[in-house]
Amino acid sequence: MFLKLLPFLPVCIAELDRWTNFLVFDGHYLPMAKCWFQWFEKSASSQSLQVGCMDDASCAEAELWRQNLGSKVDSVSVTNVLDHSATEATHMDVSISTGGEMKLVQPHTGHRQMIRSEHSAASGFPRSNYIQTYHKMLWDTLSQKKSVLHLDVDALWLRSPDSNLSQVLQQYPDADIIASSSTEWDPKKIADKWGFVLNVGFIMYRYTERVLRLFEDDLLSVPTDKQSCQVLLNLALDRKGCQWTGANLENRVGICGGMKVIALPHTFVSRATDFVYTPEDPSMPIIAHPDTGVLHLTGINRMEKFHEMRLCTQ
Ligand SMILES: *[C@@H]1O[C@H](CO)[C@@H](O)[C@H](O)[C@H]1NC(C)=O
Repeated sequence: MFLKLLPFLPVCIAELDRWTNFLVFDGHYLPMAKCWFQWFEKSASSQSLQVGCMDDASCAEAELWRQNLGSKVDSVSVTNVLDHSATEATHMDVSISTGGEMKLVQPHTGHRQMIRSEHSAASGFPRSNYIQTYHKMLWDTLSQKKSVLHLDVDALWLRSPDSNLSQVLQQYPDADIIASSSTEWDPKKIADKWGFVLNVGFIMYRYTERVLRLFEDDLLSVPTDKQSCQVLLNLALDRKGCQWTGANLENRVGICGGMKVIALPHTFVSRATDFVYTPEDPSMPIIAHPDTGVLHLTGINRMEKFHEMRLCTQ
């Protein structure tokens, strides 16, 4: 068939605004995850939801979500992404100081900044570090010819992003990556150079030939366990040489090598920590992803800030 000869182009119109929402968490983040789900359920997206859970507590919670969502979303799948022998506290986090230095800190499950220690690398699945696991999970979805929207468990859906994302897709049908952006120094080198970094807490990897190649060439075969997923992505794109256009409050468009990258403004995904959620206030972002930083690494401490901002009620 003619279409089979063109598996990637053009993106078929019906497929343009279909993607899989993808979230991973573990038991350390249970309070945060419950809060995330409250928003998600309220702002339900018709897109499929895929949940990667990492231990008994998170898998049980995700199973509840699956039951609660019923037919609200296209489909919900729950996968235990680690086997039980691998879920001991063998992973360490990388924390990035304001000076841009990285150090290992106590385990938590912010996979944005998480790596697996070398100790666990030798035994069982996952054999490699967490960064590889993270990218392999996304790769699995891409391999099913689906675009994937990766979500951090602390990126709360104050409103459904579906229609705004569809608008972005209609405007840039050839976009490869659509990502939230922030001015945090992670990595510092890129923040200095671009004035912002791409944040992987809300990021869509589209099913395009160029994204598949990026995964194969740059993301799946990680040479070091000292980089976070976010650092890895930003540096990989920067190596291709990015030319950015667009201002602070609009979508920025980056051409990085042959890739088209859209960086969403903070009116879409906000990392601010200085507002209190007010339902009627039109200045509320679509997604609230407060940057609680290194002071609030554990799920429990982070919750205080989220309560203060009236983003979580439990
Ligand atoms: C989302 O879409 C609405 C409706 O088109 C628009 O008014 C609003 O500015 C958009 N928000 C962002 C952050 O893009």
